[in-house]
Amino acid sequence: MAKVISLLLYISLFLSCFVISGYAKRKVSSNRNYKIQFVDDATPTGSNFTFICDPSRTDSTGLDISSFNFCDKTLSYRVRAKDLVARMTLKEKVAQLGNNATGVPRLGLPFYGWWSEGLHGLSNVGPGTFFDGLVPSATSFPTVILSTASFNESLWRKLGQAVSDEARAMYNLGRGGLTLWSPVINVARDPRWGRILETPGEDPFVVGRFAANYVRGLQDIPGTEKVKYEDPNSRPIKVSACCKHFTAYDVDNWHGVERISYDAKVPEQDLVETFNLPFEMCVKEGDASSIMCSYNRVNGIPACADPNLLSKIVREQWDLHGYIVADCDSVQVMVDNHKWLNVTKEEAVAKSLKAGKQGKVNVKDIDNALENLYVVLMRLGYFDGSPTFKRLGKKDVCSKQHIELATEAAREGIVLLKNENGTLPLNPSNFKTLALVGPHSKAREVMIGNYAFDGRHVGKPCQYTTPFDAFSTYGKVINALGCDVHCKDESLIFPAMEAAKNADATIMFVGLDLTVEAESLDRNDLLLPGSQTKFINQVADVAKGPVILVIMSAGGVDINFAKNNPKIKAILWAGYPGEEGGRAIADVVYGKYNPGGRLPITWYQADYINNFPMTSMQLRPDVNQKYPGRTYKFFNGSTVFPFGYGLSYTKFDYKLASTKNIVTVQNVDSRDGSEVVMVYSKPPAGVDGTHLKQLIGFQKVFVPTGGSKSVTFAFNACKSLGIVDYAGIRLLPSGGHTIMVGDGAISFPVQVNYS
Ligand SMILES: *[C@@H]1O[C@H](CO)[C@@H](O)[C@H](O)[C@H]1NC(C)=O
Ligand SMILES: *[C@@H]1O[C@H](CO)[C@@H](O)[C@H](O)[C@H]1NC(C)=O
Ligand SMILES: *[C@@H]1O[C@H](CO)[C@@H](O)[C@H](O)[C@H]1NC(C)=O
Ligand SMILES: *[C@@H]1O[C@H](CO)[C@@H](O)[C@H](O)[C@H]1NC(C)=O
Ligand SMILES: *[C@@H]1O[C@H](CO)[C@@H](O)[C@H](O)[C@H]1NC(C)=O
Ligand SMILES: *[C@@H]1O[C@H](CO)[C@@H](O)[C@H](O)[C@H]1NC(C)=O
Repeated sequence: MAKVISLLLYISLFLSCFVISGYAKRKVSSNRNYKIQFVDDATPTGSNFTFICDPSRTDSTGLDISSFNFCDKTLSYRVRAKDLVARMTLKEKVAQLGNNATGVPRLGLPFYGWWSEGLHGLSNVGPGTFFDGLVPSATSFPTVILSTASFNESLWRKLGQAVSDEARAMYNLGRGGLTLWSPVINVARDPRWGRILETPGEDPFVVGRFAANYVRGLQDIPGTEKVKYEDPNSRPIKVSACCKHFTAYDVDNWHGVERISYDAKVPEQDLVETFNLPFEMCVKEGDASSIMCSYNRVNGIPACADPNLLSKIVREQWDLHGYIVADCDSVQVMVDNHKWLNVTKEEAVAKSLKAGKQGKVNVKDIDNALENLYVVLMRLGYFDGSPTFKRLGKKDVCSKQHIELATEAAREGIVLLKNENGTLPLNPSNFKTLALVGPHSKAREVMIGNYAFDGRHVGKPCQYTTPFDAFSTYGKVINALGCDVHCKDESLIFPAMEAAKNADATIMFVGLDLTVEAESLDRNDLLLPGSQTKFINQVADVAKGPVILVIMSAGGVDINFAKNNPKIKAILWAGYPGEEGGRAIADVVYGKYNPGGRLPITWYQADYINNFPMTSMQLRPDVNQKYPGRTYKFFNGSTVFPFGYGLSYTKFDYKLASTKNIVTVQNVDSRDGSEVVMVYSKPPAGVDGTHLKQLIGFQKVFVPTGGSKSVTFAFNACKSLGIVDYAGIRLLPSGGHTIMVGDGAISFPVQVNYS
């Protein structure tokens, strides 16, 4: 079948994507397996050593560690790992399979705690990292959903670099591990999901780009990004990242449906196109050294025991260089919660190690799993030392630069949703008295979301700048909470109204928190909780000056009432903005920073969820079932705010250059600002069941007032114009495709012909 493709010049073609299976066939590498983890309670790493093969470390024990082949630097990591594993007894091997690897003292191998977390800053949620008097805190950057809203890929990478600096510093101080089980890259499919704060939103392409950049920030050793390693399994890494939770995991606890027993029924099309794509990008573009499989079943089979998902897709097709880890207790969960095939605990372990092949665990499977683990530790310099990172220590955790980066990330993410008559930014000399009201007006812990500090341990963010702290530096602040997040008690609304009556401007901090949306807690509705709506309207009614609404939340809330209320002049969404959130919000309100963030999720109307369960995994609408479809790609109904929405204090115009891959962005108003240029493709009319449009590229550019910037895009026709058919096969339909820039003010056709 000859193919002649006529496309605009700049679209490069990679013929491999025409292979009918949708994937270029790869050589299947043998002897690969993955790692099982049992995760129970907390345990600190706590050791304080240089590196495994440092001869001076074992001198006093009479052991000459450098004589072992696993310490011979002239051998490959794989050969060294095999040597190490071959020296262990079966009992010793099994003791290295949990997140608490006990070590083997007779071989000079110490305890290693695998489980550390660095989702948006180091945390002590995993026992591999702990805080104490020497280092009591780490930088808590904004939650992922807000950093994603920046749509700034270099920022995402820089966040990964900062977190891995702190991780290396903690490791050098004997207080942290080198293996971070971050980031979370599940697509935010349903607005009710409790873990949206941890995710990069609803678009699989954006989620994948976030994953690739954050993982590269965590893993890449500066200066080696471009080096080609003949054996990718020997590429040195700074810390090891883990993309989780693979796959189709996004129900936590909805009307009694719990993630640990949930069987996600997922059409193959959605699996390839939506649920797996971020993981594919994480592995192929980010070269992540680990994937975590999820608690749930996928079409009947526990994700952690599915040979098709783990061996065939992740290892063979995507060619993962690293290890696969099971989510906390997910092997236990197969037995207790899924009652899958009535397996015993031993059988479940065996099935996970072999991902489904029949039979008991054999030693070869354990060896493979362990070798994968030690190869990753070798790439981390755990065996041979890491001179590059030796200098990192206490001064690098909570450094000035990191606290500044936390502020910058929050500023870049904040989304301006409404700004009537240019009410914002406020000029401090005209607004001397401020009413700062609402449940989040003094927010502290709320701002850092989850995966920060779990409260059972000593440890906290470097510092907090609350909204109250930050706005107090600009003028006289009258504070009144009005009510708490659940807003059941209305008795304190009156003082908030009084404050608004007497102030030059009223800033209302409302929204959700972890008691409304969290891990193990999905939402039942898309409204502000309790009487918050009433509270907002009552305060707005009596306010003397302009009312500005600031919403802290991860999932969208139906605030049509506020959008349509003429007394509410401006609305900002601030996600959960991290430890410096208050400062970032004040900088935006007063125009020290011109907001340019864009919503990474659709904000649906409250009635969107009325007629279908959270457990319907399908993305496409189904007219017969009155099922409306999910995300901007498949839902065409009214929204409160669409995916990608966000305003600026200035105005940008786009022009398309004659070469068409160049967009010129002009700042035609009176403030410097940043613009996210978003490019979508639309398939030819008449292709059945395909997306309405899909994001294929985005770039954030700073454009000074009166100036202009050129933005160049390069697209791959298969990836950018391709669709996924019902069987999960990637195809490039012939016919007239459309490329749209932004809301479609600029668009142009692209013809694909086969002859
Ligand atoms: C991990 O190790 C710690 C001691 O460091 C211990 O208290 C804890 O129970 C261990 N957890 C597991 C799951 O073995
Ligand atoms: C860790 O190493 C430092 C020197 O780098 C030493 O002073 C300290 O005693 C060691 N701590 C432990 C627990 O071995
Ligand atoms: C994107 O992030 C980088 C790194 O933080 C920053 O230097 C740059 O200014 C940001 N770009 C825009 C347009 O805001
Ligand atoms: C599991 O055990 C139950 C009760 O013994 C039995 O009814 C069921 O058929 C078994 N399921 C399978 C898949 O073997
Ligand atoms: C915006 O300003 C115009 C002209 O000053 C005024 O007529 C209009 O009511 C204002 N709109 C709002 C929502 O404040
Ligand atoms: C919107 O989607 C529904 C399916 O959910 C479809 O029936 C309807 O025709 C679509 N409307 C438009 C304007 O595309």
